[in-house]
Amino acid sequence: MKIKAVVLDAYGTLFDVYSIQALADDLYPGMGAEIAVKWRDKQIEYTRLITQSDPHNPSGSRYFKSFWELTQLSLVYTLDRLHLNREAGQLEQLLAQYAHLQAFPENLTVLQKIKAMGITTAILSNGSMDMLTSAVKSAGMDDVLDHLISVDAIRLFKTSPESYGLIQQVIPVAKEDILFVSSNAWDALGAAWFGLTTHWVNRQGLPFETLTPKPHFSGPDLNSVLNSLEAIQRADT
Ligand code: LAC
Repeated sequence: MKIKAVVLDAYGTLFDVYSIQALADDLYPGMGAEIAVKWRDKQIEYTRLITQSDPHNPSGSRYFKSFWELTQLSLVYTLDRLHLNREAGQLEQLLAQYAHLQAFPENLTVLQKIKAMGITTAILSNGSMDMLTSAVKSAGMDDVLDHLISVDAIRLFKTSPESYGLIQQVIPVAKEDILFVSSNAWDALGAAWFGLTTHWVNRQGLPFETLTPKPHFSGPDLNSVLNSLEAIQRADT
C-alpha cells in the first residue's frame, strides 16, 4: 500500500454540520441538539431511500433530488415532526447557516501538509457541486484540494459502490492506494467495502459501528490523518 490520493468526505468531516445547533437553540431554546441530530439523520435517510429503492442504473435514480433539496426537505420534516413553528423565517435562517458552515480549524494546515507530500487531494461528497464549490471557497481551501467530486454526476448517493467508484474515474490509481477519510462511520464502512483504505475521524468520541471491517486508521480530528500517512510510509520502507 502506498497512498497516492487522500479523498475526504465533506459534511461532518471538513465542514461542521453540528455548528448549526447553536442557531437552532437560539431559535428554539432547549431544542438545538435534537433539531441538529434529527435533521442530519433524516437528510441521510432520504439519500439512502432514494439510492436503495430507485437506483435505476445506468442513469441514476428517477427520484433523485440534489443533496441541497434533501437538506431543505429534511429540515421541513424535522421542524414539523417536533411541532415547531416556522412562520418567522426560522427555516430560512437555518438553511442559510447550512449554506455557510464553518470548516474545522485544522483543515487548511493538514491539507497543505498532505499536498506537500506529493499526494493528490479531493472531496467525494453527496453534496451538490454548487454546495461544495461555495463551501470550499469560503473556507479558503481551493488551493489545497485538487478535485471536487460530487455524486450528482451519477445520481446515486453514498454508500453505493458506484459513488466510491467515481474517485477512480477522476484519479486513476489502485483502490488501496486511496486513503478515504470520513467522520461518518457508515461512510468509512461503505468505502472499506468498496476496497479503499479508510481513516475514520472520530470527532465525537463514538464507538465504531458494530459491523466490520473496522477502519484501517482513526483519530480524533484531521491532524490524525498525518499520523496515518506516516505509519503507512514507515511500513512501506
Ligand atoms: C457527504 C456527507 C454524507 O459530504 O457527509 O457526503
